[in-house]
Amino acid sequence: MIDVLVIGTGEYVTGLSGSKTTASDKDLGVVALCLFDLRFRGLLDRIILCGRDPKRKADITNHVQNGIGSKFTDLDIRFDYYPATGDHPDSAAYRKAILDLKPGSAVIIVTPDDSHFEIACAALEHGHHILVAKPLVKTVSEHQRLISLAEKHGLLGMVEFHKRYDPIYRDAVNRAASLGNFGYMFSFMSQPKSQLTTFRDWAGTASDISYYLNSHHIDILCQILTDRYKPVTVHASCSSGEGRRVVGRPIDDTITLSVKWQGLRADSLAHSIHTASWTAPCSDAHSQQRFLYLGAGGQIEVDQARRGYSLSTDADGFRNINPLFMNYIPRDGRFVGQDGYGYRSIETFIQLVLELGENKTTLPSIRASGLPTLEDTLATTAILQAGNQSLATGLPTIVEY
Ligand SMILES: NC(=O)c1ccc[n+]([C@@H]2O[C@H](COP(=O)([O-])OP(=O)(O)OC[C@H]3O[C@@H](n4cnc5c(N)ncnc54)[C@H](O)[C@@H]3O)[C@@H](O)[C@H]2O)c1
Repeated sequence: MIDVLVIGTGEYVTGLSGSKTTASDKDLGVVALCLFDLRFRGLLDRIILCGRDPKRKADITNHVQNGIGSKFTDLDIRFDYYPATGDHPDSAAYRKAILDLKPGSAVIIVTPDDSHFEIACAALEHGHHILVAKPLVKTVSEHQRLISLAEKHGLLGMVEFHKRYDPIYRDAVNRAASLGNFGYMFSFMSQPKSQLTTFRDWAGTASDISYYLNSHHIDILCQILTDRYKPVTVHASCSSGEGRRVVGRPIDDTITLSVKWQGLRADSLAHSIHTASWTAPCSDAHSQQRFLYLGAGGQIEVDQARRGYSLSTDADGFRNINPLFMNYIPRDGRFVGQDGYGYRSIETFIQLVLELGENKTTLPSIRASGLPTLEDTLATTAILQAGNQSLATGLPTIVEY
């Protein structure tokens, strides 16, 4: 068994966001619930959650008890909390929490994007394996620094790209590799503007919607094209106006990255277009998410919002639902969501950390296994960074990594 520290206690961890009026599809969060179940299965010992506000523990405890404890009555939902004492918020409380762990523990970082780098460095320097919410960091130089630190200390670093565990996306990645030369990809992903209140603290300042949502499909495409194509330039465009009304400051509503790709073996060029928005209207699914991949020998289309599985209720009307991500419906008071790709993403990291505790020699093979490790996700960061620079200048930007 190992101990796990989660830094960040917001929507993705507990389902509790800064906003009281948020419309989230993850009221129970993802990370904490998965960890409670992994502890129930005997894989984990201590679970530590770390935020910034010492007074927040009571709110989190109540929220976890009302949401998770009351539904999944077999789960032990206790956790230690940092900052444990004090009257004022402490953004550096994670440093004390990291010192509270035995070397070789698991640290999961789920704070706003621009804080990932500093926190990840601290965790690696103290000898812990890391899983970082996507996007890992905002620049290639930070990404490369984390790869070096993980290699220097013999540690595992992963990015929580949970779509890599979606069975349909996994299948599409495998099939795409056999469709010959790459020609074109289009991807679209959105969230309703009502959810922008959840990210009010950092949306448009610490990060943007391209880092937040385009990262998913760009990672999938980079996975398909590994060792075959490299991104060459990115030209970005954006829209604004709606988000400003929600967060009260200038913010890009919708961002499109247009990426040019160069074949590494064949003399071939290709391009892809990735659009992400956090000002979409309410629709039949919380998040629209789809892509089209065009290869020389075939084409793949995935519509992840509409899988032919809908639910109509008096409370919410008609909805297309996604049963593959997280399953929050208990069966006889038990959590039965172990097959969800949200769960599998957390579980895979914890299993690997346990494995490394037994035998560190497996680290090189894990790094080369096609999982979303630090080493395997650099091209994604390079495209997102070039997109960010292109937004600032209005010009096409060379992808460098
Ligand atoms: N919400 C999702 O569905 C989702 C899904 C995948 C990835 N993510 C990623 O997870 C990260 C967090 O997103 P979220 O949705 O939970 O946001 P959120 O705004 O709901 O929560 C962020 C949390 O981080 C905490 N925090 C900020 N600085 C901190 C520090 N120095 N030390 C400790 N805690 C600190 C805040 O107090 C807050 O609790 C982002 O990188 C986001 O891209 C979110």
